[in-house]
Amino acid sequence: MQFQLAQRGRALMDFEVTARLAAGQLQQKVEAELVAAGLGSDGLPESMEERHRVIDAALADSPVYQARALLGEWCAKQHGHAAEQAFAEVAEVLVPALEGLREGPTTLTSHDFVAPQYWSQVWFHRTRGGWDAGEYNGFVHGELVHKKYVSKIYPGDIYGNRRALLHELPRDDYRHILEIGASSGHHSLAIAEVFPDAKLVGIDPSLRMLEQAQRVANEQGLAWELHTGVGEDMAMFADASFDLVTAYAIHHEMPVKAIEAVFAEAWRVLAPGGDMIMADVARTQSLDRLTAWRFDWAARWGGEPFWRATAALDMEPLARAAGFVDVRGWQPNPSRDPYIIYGRKPL
Ligand SMILES: C[S@@+](CC[C@H](N)C(=O)[O-])C[C@H]1O[C@@H](n2cnc3c(N)ncnc32)[C@H](O)[C@@H]1O
Repeated sequence: MQFQLAQRGRALMDFEVTARLAAGQLQQKVEAELVAAGLGSDGLPESMEERHRVIDAALADSPVYQARALLGEWCAKQHGHAAEQAFAEVAEVLVPALEGLREGPTTLTSHDFVAPQYWSQVWFHRTRGGWDAGEYNGFVHGELVHKKYVSKIYPGDIYGNRRALLHELPRDDYRHILEIGASSGHHSLAIAEVFPDAKLVGIDPSLRMLEQAQRVANEQGLAWELHTGVGEDMAMFADASFDLVTAYAIHHEMPVKAIEAVFAEAWRVLAPGGDMIMADVARTQSLDRLTAWRFDWAARWGGEPFWRATAALDMEPLARAAGFVDVRGWQPNPSRDPYIIYGRKPL
């Protein structure tokens, strides 16, 4: 999406990125101290809670550990506010343009549904007010937090990962694709790019995020169909109405019971022979104990209450229990996102 931040907003976002990268460098020194203290991966306990306890005790007097903790905490609390301030500075100019982009080929239908408590009462990523906090939170999250912060602090190409997931699929002729957790449209854009001839339908509980997805699509002349709602109850879609169901980075936003229900609903709305592919956070099991602790620590700071349980989860049995066959879960890059799960609805 094309837009200009003002000088202060740009500086704020750049500073957030610099601070977070500095925290990453301190993290490397912390891990070197742990290894020197005999607490490399092999020396750490299996239980994650115990691992935190042992590391906290071992590094209690380490100035590097304290600096890392302070800077990490500051970044986690601050980056959302920085993005809000950067937006406020240019809102007068930007809002008419954002409103103009609500008109176009993409539709957004708001359904009555009861938002689950894990969604409505958790202020994700330590923001104030959750996903639907502000009228333009979709823009603030999708364009500022995501593109001007998250994409610059994560290793690799986080948008390329979304396209790469879709290239793992066995077919290239999907016509009716459902994306669960479409949010502000990052994975949706990858879908549109990889399967340009398909009709794309997206669902997400966040009206604000979907409004941004609608703008993103309209700006490119794309005709998506967006609906508010949750993946575990998609009554607005008939049985067997899609040939691909996909999702990116949604499982760690919900408890395990909801993940089970999402697989069941994905199976129901898929036509026989249809494919399901989803990706989420790296599995703890594929990481060494030090790396898993680092991810867990960052997730705790970052306001991700379901991350640990999702990372520990083997999703293959859940997908099979929903009825999927040829189920396979794998992680292309063992020390990083994403973990991928694939399944097929039998003919
Ligand atoms: C981290 S964002 C991922 C967004 C997007 N798929 C992407 O590629 O960037 C997570 C999204 O999942 C949505 N979400 C949370 N619980 C959900 C549920 N039960 N069903 C569908 N979406 C959900 C949130 O509202 C949010 O928009």
